[in-house]
Amino acid sequence: MEKKIIITIDGWSSCGKSTLAKQLARELGYVYIDSGAMYRAITLYFLRNHIDWTQHKAVEDALRKILLEFHSNHKTGQSEIYLNGENVEYVIRDLVIAEKVSEVAAIKEVRQFAVKQQQGMGKKKGIVMDGRDIGTVVFPDAELKIFMTADNAIRVERRFRELYDKNPNVTIEEVKANLEMRDYIDSHREISPLRQAEDAILLDNSKLTMREQLDLALGWVKERLSAAR
Ligand code: DC
Repeated sequence: MEKKIIITIDGWSSCGKSTLAKQLARELGYVYIDSGAMYRAITLYFLRNHIDWTQHKAVEDALRKILLEFHSNHKTGQSEIYLNGENVEYVIRDLVIAEKVSEVAAIKEVRQFAVKQQQGMGKKKGIVMDGRDIGTVVFPDAELKIFMTADNAIRVERRFRELYDKNPNVTIEEVKANLEMRDYIDSHREISPLRQAEDAILLDNSKLTMREQLDLALGWVKERLSAAR
């Protein structure tokens, strides 16, 4: 049987992790899991149901009512997230969610809930997962770990374009402030802060095209696959 590996992609907000992860999954026939979407969907549930997430009991009770699933979109072939049966892939990208998600993702019970499910999804390998703690906490034994970064101005510009397409009222200042805030909270939180795993390869894509970064990553996959045989 063909050997499969686990690929983890961590890094700062909006440096193209999901673009690379999706491309790799497509090229390799692997499953792609966007772990950030899980934290976003949990945040959406908390906001919609007015959950006071500063209270442990309220968080625990709410988590018991949350079912997260990924299903492939038949038209695009992309995996999309469902919250209690509802496709929330698009609503969770809103700035309203982005403003609160780092706070929610810093809660111990929320992380335990998400990490347990993420580890279950990697049991059969053949998976590409992106996030902040995938190479350090979720899959510390992954065969290939990539840590992505890009110049701040480039990240702000990329994120702005993405959000502007959906909401022309968004300003570049808002996007910049949100990215800075999320990076700060994500890298300074007590539990599983964003950091590069010691054995992760650093990929700065500020000056790379999508094709170039994919070719680089595919080269690393090839190496790791032959080492794993
Ligand atoms: O990748 P993203 O921007 O969709 O992630 C949303 C938030 O979720 C991000 O601010 C940090 C958090 N996150 C996390 O704490 N751990 C992960 N594995 C993935 C995301």
